[in-house]
Amino acid sequence: MIIKKEWRILTVGDGDLSFSNALLSHQPAALTATVYDSFATMSEKYGDHFQQQLSAKEIPLIFGFDLTNPKTWKGLQKNSFDVVIFQFPLLPAFRSFSEYQERGKDVNFNTLNRRLLRRFLINSFKHFLDPDGQQLCFITSKDVKPYREWNIENSLHVQTDINYLGSIDFDITNFPGYKIRNVERDKFVKDTKGTTYVWSSKKQHDLSDALQGALYLDDDLCTLCRAGPFVRQEDRLNHNQSKRHTQMMEFERLWKEDLKYYAENPGK
Ligand SMILES: C[S@@+](CC[C@H](N)C(=O)[O-])C[C@H]1O[C@@H](n2cnc3c(N)ncnc32)[C@H](O)[C@@H]1O
Repeated sequence: MIIKKEWRILTVGDGDLSFSNALLSHQPAALTATVYDSFATMSEKYGDHFQQQLSAKEIPLIFGFDLTNPKTWKGLQKNSFDVVIFQFPLLPAFRSFSEYQERGKDVNFNTLNRRLLRRFLINSFKHFLDPDGQQLCFITSKDVKPYREWNIENSLHVQTDINYLGSIDFDITNFPGYKIRNVERDKFVKDTKGTTYVWSSKKQHDLSDALQGALYLDDDLCTLCRAGPFVRQEDRLNHNQSKRHTQMMEFERLWKEDLKYYAENPGK
């Protein structure tokens, strides 16, 4: 991940504030940190160690910040940031089995996660980023299930004027003290390799040269499954008939249906 001193940064969906706290070692021009949980819930899950460190440095903190719900953005200075960062986004955990059944009733969880990420991009560019600033959104994610099933480089920004710029390795050693959190429990997420994906309203950005363009686009690869290269035609056919590919095709179909529905019902 690239962080520059002159940037004003907003973090979204920090679990225990350890990422926001670690960001301070990069001495950004400004930082506002937000947590989806209430302060009480966060403290109960992870303690308030990082909150205390950030508060001592007078970093603005907002708890109960739901990126999809403007009513929860109280205290946020809108359109004032250069970059908005969401580390390892994932839908919040369910409080009960009935909530799980209720929320997953009509919509596939893959679609719900893609909706969250798309909303993150749209709201960041519309409400959080300074139109005269750097205009950057970062999502750090992993190449394991369920994260790898979102077609993150190609599917989130379609039918918007947001551009996908590329990706860069996420090196956690540059973020001292950062603990990648599980959505719910007081546990660390397995330390698998992370990648930071970058979007901007600008087609070409100063950062572009440092980023790797979208991967798995060549003809001998499968973009959806991030698989290949397929040397023989037979390998491609076998892949196309595999359970993994069939499932990804279904996720993609559901996502396209969802986009169509919202395009036809913009008020929803
Ligand atoms: C896998 S955890 C990662 C937590 C933290 N970013 C980290 O890197 O340790 C996913 C996070 O996304 C947050 N999240 C999910 N939905 C959100 C929403 N609508 N608005 C803001 N944050 C959200 C959850 O609260 C949770 O903290």
